[in-house]
Amino acid sequence: VNTDGSAWATWASAWPTRREERGEVVDDLVLRFARQHLPQGRVLDAGSGDGTYAARLAAAFTVTGVDATPELVDTARRRHPGLPFDHASLEALPYRDGTFDGVFCLTVLEWVDDPLTALRELRRVTRPGGVLVLGVLGAGNGTRDLHVQRFGGRSPMNGLLPWELELLCEREGLRVQASLGVTRNGPVSERTRADMTRVMIWLVAVSTPAP
Ligand SMILES: C[S@@+](CC[C@H](N)C(=O)[O-])C[C@H]1O[C@@H](n2cnc3c(N)ncnc32)[C@H](O)[C@@H]1O
Repeated sequence: VNTDGSAWATWASAWPTRREERGEVVDDLVLRFARQHLPQGRVLDAGSGDGTYAARLAAAFTVTGVDATPELVDTARRRHPGLPFDHASLEALPYRDGTFDGVFCLTVLEWVDDPLTALRELRRVTRPGGVLVLGVLGAGNGTRDLHVQRFGGRSPMNGLLPWELELLCEREGLRVQASLGVTRNGPVSERTRADMTRVMIWLVAVSTPAP
């Protein structure tokens, strides 16, 4: 359902407002973590939504955005005319191996049909020795339940949880370098399941094997 972005199309016009509800504390922590861990150079914002994070990261990196929902790609292009936004699924990215030095992918992997294929694609388009900054919703985040209702009981969310993301990365040869839990009130650095449950977003920075 979600590979072509159709599930998100029904929600595309509401997303920019919903995204803003995260608030500045969350956005600042997410962006600080990303700037701290992403290598200089080309960065792919994978699942770029309305383009907000791509635009803010563009001050420090050469950013390309990609998203599966045509309406959101249009919104991102209209809001940020100087930046490239492509229309494609994470499960079949239109870039050559090793195109990017880093990947930023915030609350997208829990939405794709096949998170393993998506993760392998993100790793493929990242150069050896590059870094992926990945974020998923906290395990207990109410948004997970809300989305089930918003999508009429047919939420396209696959349910990927923070600890599952870390295990999946390690299994795929991506080394976890750092992680950070983000709440509206500030950061959480303990890697316990309790903290991974209560945060709004759980971030990890993982590195691809060196050449
Ligand atoms: C919760 S939003 C996050 C957007 C943005 N990363 C942010 O944090 O503002 C999820 C995004 O994932 C995109 N998406 C869902 N499935 C996708 C897929 N298979 N490939 C690419 N993008 C996808 C949606 O279109 C939507 O923009």
